[in-house]
Amino acid sequence: MKLLVCLCLTFLLQLGYADDEEVSNIAFPDGFLWGYASAAYQVEGGWDADGKSPSIWDNDAHNNPSWFPEGQNGDVACDAYHKTDEDVALLVYQGVKAYRFSISWPRVLPTGFTDNINEIGIAYYKDLITKLKANNIEPLVTMYHWDHPSSLEDQGGFLNESLIIPAFVDYATLLFERFGDDVKWWTTFNEPKQTCAGGYDWGGISPQKRLSGVGGYICAHNLLRAHAKAYRVYDEKFRATQNGKVSMVIDEPWHEPSSNSTQDQEAAERQNLFNYGWFADPIVFGDYPDVMKQRIAERSQLQNLSQSRLPSFTDEEKAELKGSYDFLTINMYTTDLVLWREDDPIGEPSIYDDVGVTTYQPDDWEKTVTIWFKVVPWGARSLVRWINNRYGDEKGIIVTENGYHDNGNNLTDLGTRGRYHKLYLSNLNDAIYKDGVNLIGYMAWSLMNDVEWYAGWLVNLGHYHVDFDSDERTRTPKESGVYYRKVVTTSCLVDNCTASPIKLNLN
Ligand SMILES: *[C@@H]1O[C@H](CO)[C@@H](O)[C@H](O)[C@H]1NC(C)=O
Ligand SMILES: *[C@@H]1O[C@H](CO)[C@@H](O)[C@H](O)[C@H]1NC(C)=O
Ligand SMILES: *[C@@H]1O[C@H](CO)[C@@H](O)[C@H](O)[C@H]1NC(C)=O
Ligand SMILES: *[C@@H]1O[C@H](CO)[C@@H](O)[C@H](O)[C@H]1NC(C)=O
Ligand SMILES: *[C@@H]1O[C@H](CO)[C@@H](O)[C@H](O)[C@H]1NC(C)=O
Repeated sequence: MKLLVCLCLTFLLQLGYADDEEVSNIAFPDGFLWGYASAAYQVEGGWDADGKSPSIWDNDAHNNPSWFPEGQNGDVACDAYHKTDEDVALLVYQGVKAYRFSISWPRVLPTGFTDNINEIGIAYYKDLITKLKANNIEPLVTMYHWDHPSSLEDQGGFLNESLIIPAFVDYATLLFERFGDDVKWWTTFNEPKQTCAGGYDWGGISPQKRLSGVGGYICAHNLLRAHAKAYRVYDEKFRATQNGKVSMVIDEPWHEPSSNSTQDQEAAERQNLFNYGWFADPIVFGDYPDVMKQRIAERSQLQNLSQSRLPSFTDEEKAELKGSYDFLTINMYTTDLVLWREDDPIGEPSIYDDVGVTTYQPDDWEKTVTIWFKVVPWGARSLVRWINNRYGDEKGIIVTENGYHDNGNNLTDLGTRGRYHKLYLSNLNDAIYKDGVNLIGYMAWSLMNDVEWYAGWLVNLGHYHVDFDSDERTRTPKESGVYYRKVVTTSCLVDNCTASPIKLNLN
């Protein structure tokens, strides 16, 4: 351990951490929600088991296998569908207080609708939730992590408002009914920007529809309205008896101005608002950020369209949306620098041109091993501080994902993945004690290696290795998992911490 710490120092120096003393030594608040995060498609497998229908990801990966690395899809994944006892035991051993997982919509509702409830699917989640609760681990349940039933996509998916809004609200209502006595932390949608901009605008992820500059906004509009209605159903029918919390999981890298010029600062703020604000402004304030409304309307007019490509909410919808969250969330991995740029001439519309900024990561920033992103610990502090300042500190923020990429096979990853968590957490700790940010929880991505969507398992972030060549899908701990276990059981990043002055009461 000591030797590894010394080897790290050369890296630490590059980041301005002169030595270990500069990693915060104040304990995280008492009652802090330490956990792990996962998603159904990425871990469960059982893709057609016991009445489950195919999701849009099964449709793309199973039926069109060339999109994924050979055989590396969610058909079996980590086989978590058959390993509830083993995986709960790992979570208990790791000492976490919470487990964030998602429910597969086509596993509980194979047609997408509540006229056909798959009780075997319900029983799978009921068993998982019961076992977590029996071990004092709070389930933090995502209702939708990208995998709606493929049959819903055949009818337009998130672009079809008369389909997706009522179908999602019925699905959410069923989950409250069946699981709400035990689940106190709900999120409706995971990373809606990826679902909408990725799935329906540039088309890089399932369902791979490309409607540039149009599809993303329509999808997001329908998704936000579905979220608000599900939230109000909870208010009306369940909150009084179940007393839980409901929110949405939003992702964003931190966007730092590339200089102190007014233009670059404005550009970085605009980029934050087009990303995080696209979803957070509606659920907190009841409408899209002004800069989005203005720029998209102006650029639509320049295209000679009779109305903005960004749909608008009715007064009734604004009222339903406003305040439809009980905590704030952030999935964070990295940071980009932002440069102001001249607007492009009007061509094919795109979200990219609607934002109208340039983002980049300097070459000399440290890479993760797979170079999907750079390691930028200070960005974590700036990001949660920005969220806390813009949206208020009353309800608290949970980091719902954070983790480090490599090829997944390095078990002695204390100096890479372990150090990543340590430095990001140290910056989050500074955000709590130096900036007054009301951070209430942290979910590492992920407990174990999984199916990283179209990268299969060529890229991974787990604290446990999974042997995908074996039918047993054997889980083996990595050094990062040993370190994280120590952090969550002591709430401390170093060997000896000062007690926290903060006691959270999250009930
Ligand atoms: C949209 O959904 C409605 C209601 O389910 C359905 O009747 C209609 O055919 C769908 N539209 C498209 C284009 O599939
Ligand atoms: C911006 O100004 C601050 C305060 O003067 C300084 O610390 C920082 O390095 C400057 N940032 C850039 C990118 O020039
Ligand atoms: C919009 O209409 C104006 C006036 O008819 C025309 O000059 C311009 O080229 C049109 N712009 C686009 C993007 O079609
Ligand atoms: C494994 O991670 C350690 C840092 O913890 C690093 O020094 C080593 O090079 C990595 N090994 C491989 C094969 O990537
Ligand atoms: C831990 O730190 C406290 C104060 O910061 C100090 O009084 C105590 O001796 C330390 N304990 C150990 C075992 O280093």
